[in-house]
Parts: sequence; C-alpha cells; structure tokens
Amino acid sequence: MSPKGDRQSIKKLRKSDISASPPRLARPSRLMRFISSSSVLYRHRLGTSITKAEGFPAFRQAFRTALSPPKQQKQHLVRMSSTDTNTGYRQAKDWNATQYLKFEQERTRPVHDLLAQIPISSPRRVVDLGCGPGNSTEVLAARWPNAQVSGMDSSPDMIEKARGRLPDTKFELGDLNTWAPTDNKEKVDVFFSNAVFQWVPSEKRLPLIARFIEMQAPGGVFAFQVPDNFLEPSHAMMRETASDADKPWFPVLQNRQPALARFQSTQEIYDALIPLCRSLNIWHTHYYHILESHEAVVEWVKGTGLRPFIDPLSEEDKKGFVAAYLERLKKVYSVSVDGRVLYKFPRLFVVAVRK
Ligand SMILES: C[S@@+](CC[C@H](N)C(=O)[O-])C[C@H]1O[C@@H](n2cnc3c(N)ncnc32)[C@H](O)[C@@H]1O
Repeated sequence: MSPKGDRQSIKKLRKSDISASPPRLARPSRLMRFISSSSVLYRHRLGTSITKAEGFPAFRQAFRTALSPPKQQKQHLVRMSSTDTNTGYRQAKDWNATQYLKFEQERTRPVHDLLAQIPISSPRRVVDLGCGPGNSTEVLAARWPNAQVSGMDSSPDMIEKARGRLPDTKFELGDLNTWAPTDNKEKVDVFFSNAVFQWVPSEKRLPLIARFIEMQAPGGVFAFQVPDNFLEPSHAMMRETASDADKPWFPVLQNRQPALARFQSTQEIYDALIPLCRSLNIWHTHYYHILESHEAVVEWVKGTGLRPFIDPLSEEDKKGFVAAYLERLKKVYSVSVDGRVLYKFPRLFVVAVRK
C-alpha cells in the first residue's frame, strides 16, 4: 500500500469510525491490519477477546466492546485465556517430533544464545531437561565434549528421536515434576532447559526450578529459555478461534483451558530465585523469523502451542479450527514485499548461578 493509499484509508477510517456499522474491506491495508491487530492485543491485555475476526474494526466500537464485552463472551473467556491459573491441558497425545523439527534451525537458535551466557567453561555433568528430539542436547555435547551430557523428556516420540540422533548419549523418559538425577553424589553443574518450562503448570514452574537449583553445588548453573508469546497475534488468535461460540469445537474446548498460561514476570522470577542464587542474568530477545507464508505460521505452532487446541478435536473439527485460525492470521500478519511473513517471536532467558 502506498503512502497515498494509506492516507486515503485514514480518511475512510475517520468516516467509518462514527458510522454504526463500518464497511468491511476485502483486503485491509497495512495500516488497517495494524490497527486491527493493535486493538486485538489491547483487548487481550484487558483479558477480553474478539469473538469474530474483524478485518476493520472502528476504534470506538472496538474500545467499547473491550471495556464491556457481551456477557456470554466474558463467561467463556474467563476459562479460555486465563493468565493466573494454568492450562487444564494435560498432554493426552504424544508430541510429534517430526512436526516439531520442521523448524529445527529456528527453534535451536535460542539454545546457542542461552549457552553463550553460561559462565562455566568445563562442567563435568550437564543435564538437558526436556531435551525433545535431542537438538538442544547435541549443541551442549558439542560445546562440552569432555562433560557427561544427558537428556530427559516425558515424550516417548521425542526420546526415540533423540536416541537415534545421539546413540552414545544417555536419554531418560521422565516427568520433570518428579524426576531427579539418579545419582546426585556428583552434582549436576549445568541444568539446561530450552522451551520446556512453559509446559509445566503455572503455579509449579518457579518452585520446580528452585528445586533443581537446590540440588546443585555452589557455582552450579540453571539456564532456561521460554517463549514469551502469550500476547502475540499467533497465540491470541488461537484463543479467539477457540472462543467461537457457534463452532463445533467450542463445547469440546471450553472447559479444557488449552492456552498455556503466560510465563511468570521477570520480577516474580527474580524474587523466587534470588534467595538461592549468587547471580541472575535475565533478558528478552525478539526473533523475527522469516516464514514462507501464513500457512507456515500454522505449521510452526502445530508442532507446539496449537497442539492443546487441536489434539482433542475430531479430524473434521481440527480442519475447521485450523482454517478459521489461518483466516485470522491472514488479517493480523502482513504479507511482505516478497510474499513472506515476518513472524515475531519473543523469548525470555534466565541464567541462574547457585550460591
Ligand atoms: C518445545 S520442546 C523443546 C525441545 C528441545 N529442548 C529444544 O530445544 O528444541 C518441549 C519439550 O518439553 C518436553 N516436556 C514438556 N513437559 C515436560 C515434563 N513435565 N517433563 C519432561 N519433559 C517435558 C516435551 O515432551 C517436549 O519434548
């Protein structure tokens, strides 16, 4: 859209802003899509949502709805997008390592960024918590070839892939919530965890991390990274699609809380871990992944955050859900000049050193 086109759109916006039912544009301009996505995010920050995808919401209407959403909408949103209680989702279906690895390079990039901040040059014992298909474990083993590096994960499919990838490495099937190193006489120098703790029930995350840190000797490191994308359109649109009260998936999803709860704030992390730590290094990185299309965004989240939404659905409803979700994504992510899509992905990193 040219600047002139955008100016014309602004004129249209002002007119439509005061009209009772704003015109729907077949293909909203970049400006319009920005406005649309901003209002979506604004409303999600308020803990509300938009029930129908809105190609071109008038500001006034959007804010009025945000401040006073319809009653029915309020009721089911309390259950769908809770930030204070964790998802009721319990992994009924196993992970699909092949789907997860479709974006292996992008998913492994934060492993390198986290590793670069670990202040230990030659650890003896390293454990990759939630090692997945072994992509993160492989990076750890390459960085510390003389260390005893091992991995654990609760997914049989992931563990099988990891064992195939690194046959000489020890991989254990286990649940983080109860797992402990079998022999901790020789303490673990580095606990490493990439993109895992967001899957732990919200209220258990920090106590669990503290439990692992307590197992370490002074100077030991607990390093983790988690996606911080609760407010990103990719995730807001999942919750919104799930809230479509007239769709067949609504009754299936409404009591399941499929959205992963937002990760704890940096202040909460600091306050929970500093009593055990000599130092805490906390930072955010926003990656901009260049994906081929909106469909590629769907493929990405199908390997992770979309699973709790679509796993419980019948094949037919799954197709319907994914199609409705894709339509929403097309409204909130612009198409770049080369036809590709910039997928913004904020991630939170923490490196804790045991006191
Ligand atoms: C997004 S993948 C991350 C895989 C890998 N660490 C990486 O860097 O790409 C998340 C992994 O966490 C594992 N996971 C989730 N909850 C877990 C739990 N309670 N105990 C052990 N593993 C868990 C999943 O099985 C999955 O393999």
